[in-house]
Amino acid sequence: MEFDIKDIKLAAEGRKEIEWAERDMRVLGLIRERFGKEKPLEGVKIAACLHITKETANLARALAAGGAEVRLSASNPLSTQDETAASLVENFKIAVFAKRGVDSESYYQHINSAIGEGPQIVIDDGADLISTLHEKHQQLCPHIWGGMEETTTGLLRLRNMERDGALKFPIIAVNDALSKYLFDNRYGTGQSTLEGILRATGVLFAGKTVVVAGYGWCGRGFAMRAEGMGAKVIVTEVNPIRALEAAMDGYWVMPMTQAAALGDIFCTLTGDIQVIGKEHFEVMKDGAILANSGHFDVEVDLVGLKELAREVKKGVRENVDEYILKNGRRLFVLGEGRLVNLVAAEGHPASVMDMSFATQALTAEYVVKNRARLSPRVYPVPQKIEENVARLKLESMGIGIDSLSASQAEYLASWKSGT
Ligand SMILES: NC(=O)c1ccc[n+]([C@@H]2O[C@H](COP(=O)([O-])OP(=O)(O)OC[C@H]3O[C@@H](n4cnc5c(N)ncnc54)[C@H](O)[C@@H]3O)[C@@H](O)[C@H]2O)c1
Repeated sequence: MEFDIKDIKLAAEGRKEIEWAERDMRVLGLIRERFGKEKPLEGVKIAACLHITKETANLARALAAGGAEVRLSASNPLSTQDETAASLVENFKIAVFAKRGVDSESYYQHINSAIGEGPQIVIDDGADLISTLHEKHQQLCPHIWGGMEETTTGLLRLRNMERDGALKFPIIAVNDALSKYLFDNRYGTGQSTLEGILRATGVLFAGKTVVVAGYGWCGRGFAMRAEGMGAKVIVTEVNPIRALEAAMDGYWVMPMTQAAALGDIFCTLTGDIQVIGKEHFEVMKDGAILANSGHFDVEVDLVGLKELAREVKKGVRENVDEYILKNGRRLFVLGEGRLVNLVAAEGHPASVMDMSFATQALTAEYVVKNRARLSPRVYPVPQKIEENVARLKLESMGIGIDSLSASQAEYLASWKSGT
């Protein structure tokens, strides 16, 4: 079996982590059991570009149990858990091409290795694998039945491809499933971003001013958790509805030019470029902490920051670089401006990835069954899958809910009964 990982000797440690995550991924566990019996993915080649975490390992196991041949590469050069990669290869016989800390060239080599001789299904997180297929392996695209995209930034890229007529195979927008973003983006990113900043710095949140750039699902989650730790939260936005929502949720809302001078901790969660730039660094307080939890490392302008710095001390602590500006102030950048929750912590908790990856696994099955009806467009996840995942998750949490009586169902479907 082909693979490229850091150290196979880490497998035993990785296995423990994968099994630890499995305990909290009961919906995916049920799907794995059923897939093991029914083999809905028998012989299907799946190339996946995802953060190589213990939760992703459990998705790969479920797909493999369904009969798929899975090849995995990482969706970020710094997010790979090397012990997980080792265990996937050693204990679960899954081909993994990923090492933490690779340069850009090896990152893309690994994506090419995951693509191999050509998949029938692709799973992406950020659209690097799908765009590589479109740019470098066009001949493989007609053989691809469908792709699933895990994150907001990836879907933005794929919808731009669809709009430009460049998309060559169907995409299912897994990120946009309610069973994904309401939980993963909000509670997963909210908690794990806070955890990444805490693990990297050990800073006390209580009493600090935290600036949250972007009040989408991720930003909402992080703002809520930062406030819960006792921080004063400022939100910056470009969208008036979201800005208004943040204001009515009780946060201060202002432009970044104003917030820059007030913040102790900054975190970008926008999917946009250069959200914090030179004009902001120049007015920041001595000791301000800068983190990003958006998909790419483009939200904090590190090139601009370097230009303002008279000295850069790399690794003053694990995952922390110190920039000493010409004005004498020190700014601390976490995780080289990459996803702080995956670089400095373990990514989302397993319980929330349970829902995202259950949605991915059921969508893979859907693509196999419905491939003849799909064309090169971006489709939503079928509502039945979202509801199924939510129902199973509630069951696994021991939560029961009411159901409509016959008269309630009739009432809700009628238009005649009024005042
Ligand atoms: N860290 C993780 O594990 C993780 C998990 C899920 C998603 N993501 C990534 O996080 C980012 C945000 O995802 P989301 O689901 O919250 O997206 P979203 O579209 O719901 O929200 C993004 C928000 O940022 C705002 N915005 C854009 N440019 C801005 C700017 N210059 N200044 C201030 N606000 C700006 C937008 O108006 C929008 O409200 C994406 O890159 C996504 O891929 C990361």
